[in-house]
Amino acid sequence: MSVRISVDLRLDQSAAFEALVEELTTALSRLGMEFQPGADGRVMEGGFEVGRVVRWQPSEAIILEWHAADWEPVDVTSLELHFEPVEDGTRVVLENRGWGNPLGDERNELAGWFASEVAAPLLSAMGPRRLGDWITDRRARCPSGPQGRATYRDPLYHRPNFQAILAVLKLRPDDYLLEVGCGGGAFLHDALESGCKAAAIDHSSDMVKVAHEVNHEAIQQNRLEICEGDAGSLPYLDGIFTCAVMTGVFGFISNPLQALSEIRRVLAPGGRFVLFTGSKELRGTPAAPEPIASRLYFYEPDELEELARKAGFGKVHLEWPDFEPLARAAGIPEEHLELFKGRGGGHLLVASLV
Ligand SMILES: C[S@@+](CC[C@H](N)C(=O)[O-])C[C@H]1O[C@@H](n2cnc3c(N)ncnc32)[C@H](O)[C@@H]1O
Repeated sequence: MSVRISVDLRLDQSAAFEALVEELTTALSRLGMEFQPGADGRVMEGGFEVGRVVRWQPSEAIILEWHAADWEPVDVTSLELHFEPVEDGTRVVLENRGWGNPLGDERNELAGWFASEVAAPLLSAMGPRRLGDWITDRRARCPSGPQGRATYRDPLYHRPNFQAILAVLKLRPDDYLLEVGCGGGAFLHDALESGCKAAAIDHSSDMVKVAHEVNHEAIQQNRLEICEGDAGSLPYLDGIFTCAVMTGVFGFISNPLQALSEIRRVLAPGGRFVLFTGSKELRGTPAAPEPIASRLYFYEPDELEELARKAGFGKVHLEWPDFEPLARAAGIPEEHLELFKGRGGGHLLVASLV
C-alpha cells in the first residue's frame, strides 16, 4: 500500500525544492520531529531515527528510508518527495511506499488510520476555519515564511503608527524601553535613534530572527536584547523598564488583562506605556482584510481604558493622532492615504504608573 499526495507550485524546480526543504524543516520541528536536510540527512523523533536520506537530488528528489514503527524495526518503507516540471511551475509529489502491516490489520484498521490521520486533517486544513487560522498566523498573528519576513522587515503601513507612538513617548537616552510583539524590529530601529536601551519579545521565531538582523548594530553595542516568548509571561524582573510599547499586537492577544498586567509588573515607578491598536473602521479594509479581520479583536476605546486600569495603571487616557501627515511622510501611496484619515486609522492608549 502507499499514500500519495501532490501539489502544483508556481515556482521553478530549484525554488520549489528549497522552499519545501525550509518549510518542512520548520513545520516538522513544530510537531516534535527534527529534519536534518542534506545528502547525509535524517529525520529524528525523540532519540529514534524515523528517516534516513538515501537520495538527495536538489531540484528533483529526496528519498528517505522510513521507519513508521520503532517497535517493528524490520518494517522499512520509502518516503519520497519528487519535483516534476508542469506547465507553469513544479509538481511536488509526496509518496510513502511499501507500508507493511504496522496496524496488525485484521479488521481493516487501515481505513480508520487513513481517515483520521491523513484524510480528515487534510480536509480540515482545506476548510475555512483552519485555512483562515493558518493565513492569520502566517501573515500577522505569528508571522513566518519568506513573505512574512519581508513584510515585517520593512512594514511601510505601520510606520505612521511608529511615529505617532514615538511622538507621545519622547524617548530619552536614559530610557530602558520594552517592546512586546516586536515583529521584524522596525519600530525598535527607529526608537533606538533616541540613544535609549531596549529589550523586545515576540512569539514568532522568524520575527525574532528578522528583528535581530534589522538591529544587529544595537545588539552588538549591548543596547538591545530580543527574545522569543509570550506576552502573557514576560521573562523580565519586576520594575526594570522606564517605558513599554505594543503596536499592532493587542487585538491578537488571547488574555489581554494578563498581558497588560505583565507590562505593568516590569515597569518601574513612573513608567509609561503606549499601545497602538487599529479601530474597527479598518475591519475588511486592506489594513485588516479577511480572514485576519474576524480573528482580530477591535477594542472600543473605553474597553481599552478599563483594561489598563484593571491591570494597575494609575493614569490612563486615549489619543487620536492625525495619522495622515505621518502616512504621507512615510511614503504611503496617495491611493491608500484614505485609510489614515480621521479617527479611522486607530488610537493610542497612553498609560503610566503613578
Ligand atoms: C501584526 S504583527 C505587528 C508587528 C510589529 N509590532 C509591527 O507593528 O510591525 C503582530 C506581532 O505580534 C506578535 N505576537 C502576537 N501575539 C503575541 C503574543 N501572545 N506574544 C508575543 N508576541 C505576539 C506576532 O508574532 C507578530 O510579530
